[in-house]
Amino acid sequence: MRVVQVTKFGGPEVLVPAQLPEPVAGEGELVIATVAADVLFLDTMVRGGGGGEYFPVRPPYVPGGGVAGKVVSVGDGGDPGLLNTTVIARLPGGGYAERVVAPAGQVHEVPDGVDPVVAVALLHDGVTALGLAERSRIRPGERVLITAAGGGLGLLLVQLAKAAGARVVAAARGQRKLALIREQGADAVVDYSEADWAERVMGATDGAGLDLVLDGAGGQVGATAFSLIAPGGRFSAHGTPSGRFAAVDPGEAARRGVGFWGIEAVQFDSDEHARLTGQVLAEAAAGRLRPVIGQTFPLASAADAHAAIEARAALGKTLLLI
Ligand SMILES: NC(=O)c1ccc[n+]([C@@H]2O[C@H](COP(=O)([O-])OP(=O)(O)OC[C@H]3O[C@@H](n4cnc5c(N)ncnc54)[C@H](OP(=O)(O)O)[C@@H]3O)[C@@H](O)[C@H]2O)c1
Repeated sequence: MRVVQVTKFGGPEVLVPAQLPEPVAGEGELVIATVAADVLFLDTMVRGGGGGEYFPVRPPYVPGGGVAGKVVSVGDGGDPGLLNTTVIARLPGGGYAERVVAPAGQVHEVPDGVDPVVAVALLHDGVTALGLAERSRIRPGERVLITAAGGGLGLLLVQLAKAAGARVVAAARGQRKLALIREQGADAVVDYSEADWAERVMGATDGAGLDLVLDGAGGQVGATAFSLIAPGGRFSAHGTPSGRFAAVDPGEAARRGVGFWGIEAVQFDSDEHARLTGQVLAEAAAGRLRPVIGQTFPLASAADAHAAIEARAALGKTLLLI
């Protein structure tokens, strides 16, 4: 079968099409013939040699943490009723492939009326967004800043914060992303590549400051966003694209009464994952959660998908179509 492998740690060019033997479902596993694979910012980081302490892969490996497709075989002890059903599945890796083996516990049937490509676009981003919305307990009228708001996760957070009744200020770089974010319902958009972006955010809160920051950007953007939080507010440091998670000084947070959490808040056990995935699919079926799939690439062009993400040219979700 066709796959794309990371041949060594490096730039997007190390993603190379290859042939591997067909996978076989073991006990408690399924084989899925894929139609689409999720591409995450994380995939680009690990491919570049980052995050080794948490993601100890060694090249050559097939990247990709999630797929949509049809179940084509069921391993011993599995439910034969799943054959031919359309599913999405979380994977420990190996998603950039025509067929994948998935643990049955990580497989979810796609409800009628939901496009499997939409479902896989929500597999990670939707679960993370819902988990963050739950953790943040957004209340009507709160002033919420979302950074990296033009990415896959950020646009869903804009939708959820608006649905919760917040006043949403969304920050990203460049006019294309800002226009897209506005379409998704943000009340104010700010370009954080401009020097006065912090003043503009404060202006969008009428000078009162923020109740909540959902920081998907990290680094200096996250640090600046933290400084704009009103006393008693909350801060989520779940993003690293700027190079690292936003650093929060616990002493300063305590002085200002700001509650904060990091990436651990969106690392769910399998029961939580299953619950949130079910909810995400139900929200998608009801039309309340709508991923913005900004670009798709054929499997063999996975390198182009990574290059687009790293060039900050991608809008919303990036997927491979297989
Ligand atoms: N998706 C998930 O389920 C999930 C789960 C846990 C954590 N996270 C983390 O949350 C962050 C956002 O995730 P995402 O899935 O929304 O990613 P994404 O779709 O790739 O979006 C990332 C955004 O980061 C911004 N960015 C800033 N500096 C960048 C750089 N040097 N290179 C590339 N992009 C840069 C880009 O917007 P601008 O150009 O507008 O700045 C881009 O829209 C990532 O750090 C990710 O690891 C995501």
